Amino acid sequence: MRLILFGAPGVGKGTQARRITQKAGIPQISTGDILRNQIRSGSELGQKLKSYTDQGNLVPDGLILDIIRLRLAQPDCEGGFILDGFPRTVAQAEALEVLLVELKAQLDHVFELKVSDDAIVRRLSSRRVCRSCGEVYNSLLEEIPEECRHCGGGPIAQRPDDQEETIRHRLEVFNQQTAPLLEFYDDRGLLRSLDGDRSVDEVHEELMSLLV
Ligand code: AP5
Repeated sequence: MRLILFGAPGVGKGTQARRITQKAGIPQISTGDILRNQIRSGSELGQKLKSYTDQGNLVPDGLILDIIRLRLAQPDCEGGFILDGFPRTVAQAEALEVLLVELKAQLDHVFELKVSDDAIVRRLSSRRVCRSCGEVYNSLLEEIPEECRHCGGGPIAQRPDDQEETIRHRLEVFNQQTAPLLEFYDDRGLLRSLDGDRSVDEVHEELMSLLV
């Protein structure tokens, strides 16, 4: 099964992708996570990527497509994958179509999660992440620990792009550069829109019911 979890920043793509991965045994491919790992490594490329992500701007298509080409060629993707945060431009979606032909594979679903802008700003302003392993916490859902419960000690901090002004800029970038993909995938009969403004469990149950 090959699917795309689509939607604006903060609608819950990563949260739902991790849940599906656990149940369906196919990898979550988050371009945001891959970029943040590269940034954490301190490499020269990471420094360049940080200048885009911290401002809430998209990383150039060429860099993202190099990352995706390498990742989808890994053996764990043979049985399927969940794309989280990719594609984000029409050029990326067109390149994905070419890549899938090369891989003799096809997309099964594109699920759009819909959440109002105000709820997104609330969610993302309340998000904290582990600086070492990237584990996500949210004060709207739980108490934030001082040290990461997942890796046993990483410091917990706010993502640089989760400041309110940057969140609002990311929403504008989504509306301008990414939202046109809704029509792209609707035209291909793959798009299904879901209300993402429900509990994590409710959204997960609906997604799982659509996957069987
Ligand atoms: P990326 O990391 O992909 O950020 P994003 O799309 O802005 O997505 P988020 O991680 O903010 O949100 P999400 O939808 O995954 O929600 P989550 O589950 O975490 O990209 C970051 C940057 O990298 C981009 O700005 C860009 O610069 C660059 N980039 C990445 N991909 C790129 C590409 N393809 N092309 C070019 N540039 C690219 O949930 C959010 C919070 O809400 C969490 O705290 C969670 O706990 C909470 N939450 C989740 N579900 C619920 C719920 N149902 N109710 C209440 N709270 C919830």
